[in-house]
Amino acid sequence: MSDERYDFVVLGATGFTGQFVVDEVARVADQEKLKFAVAGRSMEKLQKVLTESSQRTGKELEETPIIIADVKNYPHIFTFGVFKQGGPSKKQMETGTFSITVVGKGWKEKLPDADTEHDTAPDTQMIVRVSGPEAGYVATPIVMVQCACTLLKEISQDKFRGGVYTTAMLFRETNLIERLIKNNIKFEVVKEQFPL
Ligand SMILES: NC(=O)c1ccc[n+]([C@@H]2O[C@H](COP(=O)([O-])OP(=O)(O)OC[C@H]3O[C@@H](n4cnc5c(N)ncnc54)[C@H](OP(=O)(O)O)[C@@H]3O)[C@@H](O)[C@H]2O)c1
Repeated sequence: MSDERYDFVVLGATGFTGQFVVDEVARVADQEKLKFAVAGRSMEKLQKVLTESSQRTGKELEETPIIIADVKNYPHIFTFGVFKQGGPSKKQMETGTFSITVVGKGWKEKLPDADTEHDTAPDTQMIVRVSGPEAGYVATPIVMVQCACTLLKEISQDKFRGGVYTTAMLFRETNLIERLIKNNIKFEVVKEQFPL
């Protein structure tokens, strides 16, 4: 990569939004005497963007530097260190945790069938937290394997007749939550409110 420094680099210049950004940067850079470059994956597409922007803005953009960059090669830069190639260290996996808080609103009263709608505003709120070990490499295998065990051991063909079900079906009348709790995934009701 070149050592040249720019005031602006328009990464994603070839995108729908990027082309508007190039027009704006071209105008401002000219007024403010700033240096800019465009960046992206395809030299050909970036050259076309500069030509078209030049026609729209009336600015001389043919000499604008082009940087070839694929963000997938620099995940640590574009995610401020959150993601990097090679995955987390052993220590990060051992000490990492996840926590998801879900806020659900609904009705205490269950209607007789799915086609009927409530004619009043929701009257109940529940805040639930699910937490556990490092999400990507520790919790995901735990959850996947327990889902597979539930599918193999608890779901009979007679019970679920039909085509493709959503994943939520695996929680219905099974011990999946108990299985997950036994395997280090925690479920907590943070708050239950009725009436609202
Ligand atoms: N006001 C707002 O908040 C607002 C409004 C609109 C859009 N946006 C955001 O702006 C972004 C672009 O939206 P868009 O509709 O313009 O999308 P788009 O037309 O699909 O453009 C995506 C751009 O990203 C580039 N790109 C994709 N993968 C890349 C990679 N691995 N390495 C380098 N470049 C890569 C594409 O380059 P190639 O040409 O090489 O594929 C293209 O220039 C999105 O994040 C969108 O959410 C925000």
